[in-house]
This record gives sequence, C-alpha cells and structure tokens, in this order.
Amino acid sequence: MPDATILGIESSCDETGAAVVRSGQQILSNVVASQIATHQPYGGVVPELASREHLRAIIPVVRQALAEAQQTYESVDAIAVTQGPGLAGSLLVGISFAKALAFALEKPLIAVNHLEGHIHAVLLEQRQAGNSELEFPVLALVVSGGHTHLYLARAEGNSWTHENVGHTRDDAAGEAFDKVAKLLGLGYPGGPIIDRLAPHGDSAAVKFQTSQIKHRDRRDHGRPGAVSDQPRFDFSYSGIKTAVLRYVETHQLGPAIEARRQALSEIEKPMLDDYLHLCGRETLDLVASFQRSMVEDLVTKTLAAAREYDVETLFVSGGVAANQELRATFAREAEMQGLPVFFPSRSLSTDNAAMIAAAAFPKFLAQEFVPMNFSAEAGMALGGSRSS
Ligand code: KG4
Ligand code: ZN
Repeated sequence: MPDATILGIESSCDETGAAVVRSGQQILSNVVASQIATHQPYGGVVPELASREHLRAIIPVVRQALAEAQQTYESVDAIAVTQGPGLAGSLLVGISFAKALAFALEKPLIAVNHLEGHIHAVLLEQRQAGNSELEFPVLALVVSGGHTHLYLARAEGNSWTHENVGHTRDDAAGEAFDKVAKLLGLGYPGGPIIDRLAPHGDSAAVKFQTSQIKHRDRRDHGRPGAVSDQPRFDFSYSGIKTAVLRYVETHQLGPAIEARRQALSEIEKPMLDDYLHLCGRETLDLVASFQRSMVEDLVTKTLAAAREYDVETLFVSGGVAANQELRATFAREAEMQGLPVFFPSRSLSTDNAAMIAAAAFPKFLAQEFVPMNFSAEAGMALGGSRSS
C-alpha cells in the first residue's frame, strides 16, 4: 500500500484544526485552536463569531501543524478538508483555504464528511497502536454537540460504507449537556463541566424518563421489490432537558442559579473547586442524575442495536465520547456482552483535523479527489440511511 502524507483541515464548528497524518495511521502533528473563550459569554456557538475566529486562526494553525510535523506545503501529498456537516460560514473558511492551497501547490484535494472523520479517529489510533485486527461490521456511535448517530460501518477494499441505523429525533446528546449546563448557570461548553461535577452528586437522587424509540423502517430503499423491515434505534433528548427545567422551577433553584452564573462570570478560569463551592447538594445531585440518565440511554440503545445487527466491534466517538461515565459504562456493559469497544483518546474525541486527514487516506488511495468548485454542505449526511 503506498504511503501518503496528508494535511487535514477542520473548521466545521468552533475549533480550527490542522493536522498532518501519514497513511491514516501515524499522527505527525495535530493542532487545534479552540474558540471556547469567544463563545463562552453567549452560552453557545455564535456562527458569525465562529467564522471570524476561523479566519484569524487558519493560517497560523496550518503553519504550526506543518512545522510540528517537519513538513512543508510542498512535501505533503494531498490536502483534505471537512465538507460538512457543520456551520456553513465556518466550513467555508476551511474549504476556501484548502482550495487555495491545493490550487497553488497543484496537490489533490479531498473532501471529508465530518462524521466519517469521527469514526476514523478511532481507526487512526488503533492502527497507530498496532491493532489492525478489528473485526467487521462495526457499529459506530457518533455522539457530539451536533449529532447522535449510529452507523453500521464496513470496509470494502480501500473504501468504507456507512449505513445509518439510528439518530436523534431532536437534540443531540452534547446539545443536551450544553443546554442543561447553561440552564444551571454552569457555563459553556457544558459537557466537560457536567462530566467533572457528576461524580460529586448522587446519580440516583432524581429519576428522569428517557424516551423509548425503537421502530421498524418499512420504506423501500430503492432495491427492486424490496421493502426494508430493518429496526432503527433513534434517540430523543429534548424531553430530559425540559424535565431538568421543570425540576429547577418546582424546586425554586432560579435565584441560586443566577447567583452562580454571576459568580462564575467574575472568575477568569473557574476550577473544579470554584464550581463545587458554587453548587449546592441539590444541584450536584441533579447534574449527576442527568448524566446517569443520558449515559444509560446512550449505552442501552447502542448495545441493543449492536445485538440486533450482530456486530463484531463497537466504536464510540465524538465530543461526548470524552465523558468518563459514558466510557466506563460502555466498557463495562459491552464487556458483559463480549463486544470489544473502542474510543478515541479524549483529545481525538472532540473536533480535530487528524481524524479528517485519516479519513482522507482511503479516498487518496481510491483517487477520490474533488474539483475546485466543490462546495460546503452544511447538512451533509453520511452514507446510506435507514432513516424514517
Ligand atoms: O465533536 P465535538 O467537539 O463537536 C461537534 O461535532 O459537535 O463535540 C462537542 C460536544 C459539546 O456538546 C460538548 O459539551 C460535548 O461534546 N462534550 C462532552 C464532553 N466533552 C465535550 N460531553 C460530555 N462529557 C464530556 N467530557
Ligand atoms: Zn464533531
């Protein structure tokens, strides 16, 4: 198999990333410029500000990635960039820059689906660790701020096929973490904060109902005469967010939340002790119970899908895959089912460009290059779908 050194560029949301990866299996550099400080005062990503920050960061980030990898613009074999899904304005910054580089350097340009990138984050690190024995099919849960998607992933020669067998009907899991944290005056992004606070509360204190959405997809998926009767495993997280809101109202937590929001806004870089000091027992219990419900729902549905589709391997990737309780619960429960489960390292769970450069390698081998007039696809889907 020929070698290829690929420069990857990622700018789909609020991280500007550039990375150099050799042949989908060796990270030479992986640089991420986070915009958390920019969006924090607004409690969420502001698309216009995100585009502006990407414009500021893209050149230094790419230069740093090349320098750390001891590469030059000329020495890389191809440029890979996230095409979607994501924020249109943010995607365009990365895409325009990648196009300009590819054009000026006369290098091939590869467009990568961000979700495929998250799946390849796992493969990249497994290969880097020397594990080339992964068994297929793989069920991949991509769980992030924008997505809660289940894919059946199969390798066919150099190319990959992905089939969607479940997705969220409303909020993504990361979005629920972020909204609940915002609601409780804990700041943005909510996932990492809730992750650190949850072990300090009683996860059995508040009972939340999560939705049961398992159904059969009875559409004809284009196969002559075929009517699909495949089960789907969908998620829904807007209900739990509303339940937390109702709890806050019925337990009159409003004034304490406002005081905490104010106090945290006055601390430049709040530490865990600051949060703990500003959260009463009731709030810690609420946070712990919320996280436990989210984790149980994600794990239960994913493992049910794994059984139904009789997969050999499980991947869990995307920002929420950094969550410690989610990792521990998946590891424990999947082991009980005899199912190997793989996560990316925590830094490769959240958005980065190494996963984009890695996902581009099979496309490089297949010479799947894009023309200079390709465009961002904000709502880009991945693979075939068994969606309803
Ligand atoms: O993959 P990612 O960096 O960006 C998207 O593609 O969305 O995921 C970001 C999301 C945010 O919602 C963030 O709150 C969540 O991942 N997240 C976490 C953790 N770290 C990041 N959620 C739970 N626990 C964490 N440790
Ligand atoms: Zn992502």
